[in-house]
Amino acid sequence: MVAASAPGKLILFGEHAVVFGEPALSVAIDLRTRVDAASAQTATVNGRPLTRQEFPYLEAGIRHHGFPDPLSITISSSIPKAAGMGSSAALTVSLLACLQALRGSMNMESIARTGFEVELDVQGRASPIDTTTSTQGGGILLLKERSDGFLWRIERGDRAWNLHSCSLPEMILVVGNTGIEAPTGPLVAGVQKLAEARAEARKAIGRIGRITLEGLSALSSGDLELAGRLMEENHVLLNSLGVGHPLLDDFVEASRPYSYGAKLTGAGGGGSMICLTDRPEPVVRAIEDRGGRAFIVSTESRGVAVDEQG
Ligand code: PMV
Repeated sequence: MVAASAPGKLILFGEHAVVFGEPALSVAIDLRTRVDAASAQTATVNGRPLTRQEFPYLEAGIRHHGFPDPLSITISSSIPKAAGMGSSAALTVSLLACLQALRGSMNMESIARTGFEVELDVQGRASPIDTTTSTQGGGILLLKERSDGFLWRIERGDRAWNLHSCSLPEMILVVGNTGIEAPTGPLVAGVQKLAEARAEARKAIGRIGRITLEGLSALSSGDLELAGRLMEENHVLLNSLGVGHPLLDDFVEASRPYSYGAKLTGAGGGGSMICLTDRPEPVVRAIEDRGGRAFIVSTESRGVAVDEQG
């Protein structure tokens, strides 16, 4: 048997603009998904038959890895689902680490690459930000060009991403989840349409790219106030691209008295916002008072890891 775990993630800056080749910054968080896997007569997950319909990421993970034997899989996770916190990437990456470990090897780059293929297979559209962050841990920067901290380059069709590891200070973030699930594909398509039609939208996308780099440098130098102001500006720009939601604005406003700054995170249209703070409890109360679910998380440097092998 083998057990592996991997962290969830949050996008700090640059979502949507990254689809146009602009930089984006994400960070692993201290919530993990663990997968236990052992040889078995039939393939099961938490005691249920492993079907594509019920467990699409596990089915695709096993298929893309090419693992031939049935496994009894147990999942345990502290990452909320469908909240923009990377729960599916953490599940996929933990599974792939188990499959590699069962064959006596472990290669981070190949986990990140296969993980991306799995997300593409199941979701139809994805960038490699979630799976690389869950594999590598810490801060992950996507850039058009190759730079310091380069990890790997992932290409798909006419799109290519250079993924880098970057050091970030420990931070406390509060996630405010609206409970509204909005699929990423149509939101990305909406931004594409707006960018084709309007020069202001293209300008906003370019500005988000610059905010990402300014945000990284503010965080790296410990200037949380500047980082917070940049988050607020990024939020306004995302709203101008049509991916906001009134509840996200409510949560951002409610958290403001106790925070450096806040913004929507991930695809938007509902989903979640994040708030950078050193007073997480009042932020949680403010978000919950407005009907949201709130989670306090910290940054995590540990990526995917084999926890047990026997
Ligand atoms: O769905 P999430 O939380 O992983 O965020 C999607 C991020 C987008 O930039 C909107 C899309 C992408 O593939 O990068």
